[in-house]
Amino acid sequence: MYSSSFFSTPLFLSFLACMLSPMAVLGANSNHFTEYIGALFRGVKFSDVPINSSVEFHYILSFAIDYSVATTPPAPTNGEFGVFWDTENLSPDAVSAIEQNYSNVKVAVSLGGATVNGYNVYFNATSVESWVSNAVSSLTTMIQQYNLDGIDIDYESFGNENDTDTFTECIGQLIKTLKDNGVISFASIAPFANPTVQSMYQALWAKYSSIIDYVNFQFYAYGADTTVDQYVQYYDEQVSNYPGGNVLASFMTENTTGVISADTGFSACQELKSENKLYGIFIWCADASLSQGFTYEIQSQALLAS
Ligand SMILES: *[C@@H]1O[C@H](CO)[C@@H](O)[C@H](O)[C@H]1NC(C)=O
Ligand SMILES: *[C@@H]1O[C@H](CO)[C@@H](O)[C@H](O)[C@H]1NC(C)=O
Ligand SMILES: *[C@@H]1O[C@H](CO)[C@@H](O)[C@H](O)[C@H]1NC(C)=O
Ligand SMILES: *[C@@H]1O[C@H](CO)[C@@H](O)[C@H](O)[C@H]1NC(C)=O
Ligand SMILES: *[C@@H]1O[C@H](CO)[C@@H](O)[C@H](O)[C@H]1NC(C)=O
Repeated sequence: MYSSSFFSTPLFLSFLACMLSPMAVLGANSNHFTEYIGALFRGVKFSDVPINSSVEFHYILSFAIDYSVATTPPAPTNGEFGVFWDTENLSPDAVSAIEQNYSNVKVAVSLGGATVNGYNVYFNATSVESWVSNAVSSLTTMIQQYNLDGIDIDYESFGNENDTDTFTECIGQLIKTLKDNGVISFASIAPFANPTVQSMYQALWAKYSSIIDYVNFQFYAYGADTTVDQYVQYYDEQVSNYPGGNVLASFMTENTTGVISADTGFSACQELKSENKLYGIFIWCADASLSQGFTYEIQSQALLAS
């Protein structure tokens, strides 16, 4: 089973350009590092990634998806989530082992992703009540089986692009219920600069920001020609779009044309740190970094720990 990489959506740079506005951003550096893992089936293990004991280190397993792949194309299952990551290398025992070795490590699961078996994954709930009920039940089982600590929300396509209310209530009530039940201790969202995506996640944020701990904004979805200065502007813009949020800077190590390079992304992290507003960094993804010696993971954690 194969679940592909993150965003695959064309970008709307002209739209972004008119939203840009200079502003002062309050915030402070923190030592939060997040690594997505398991979506590309390249055999990467938790123990392959160097972990600096001076950072707060989160893995996010990618992905759990509410689709059945018994048919072609796969069919939505209204909140009944299944596991679509590399469970051979990222098993319940592997989660327990890495958490036992490192007191600074926690493991979460990301919901959604860009595609399943090559088809887009849509957020497509039949009703709020039925979706939440199915999601709470299937995810509670999965989270307890794998000893996980949190969830990340990464839906990128939507069955009804205008229906922000259903997305807001489904996701908000899911996070709230899992937290109230003591099943998870943290939750994050992973939006990127696309008008539909932003309208969904900002509507969610407006009502449920108090129970969302991190904003894993996919800055690498900006174009390859993005400069460090522009990256910092985009970061400020997203901090204002998600007021009060712990917004992580990000870059990808997967070799993908047309997106911000890892070098530019890391330079932007250094600049944000020097301006005392780097909350944290996430990298997509460990699977891609495996063949590159995890140099960006080592540098990023050292920067956050310094
Ligand atoms: C845990 O630490 C032990 C001893 O250092 C090491 O042999 C083992 O590979 C580590 N396991 C993981 C999952 O990091
Ligand atoms: C949403 O689910 C319904 C019912 O399964 C299906 O008919 C429809 O095609 C789905 N929409 C998308 C965008 O997948
Ligand atoms: C969403 O709203 C736009 C603008 O009002 C409209 O053109 C479009 O048909 C709507 N789409 C759906 C799926 O309702
Ligand atoms: C990235 O992809 C390009 C084009 O396919 C290739 O030429 C280059 O060698 C790749 N780089 C790495 C580090 O894999
Ligand atoms: C962890 O970060 C500190 C601070 O930057 C650095 O001195 C140290 O070498 C790093 N440790 C590892 C194992 O990378």
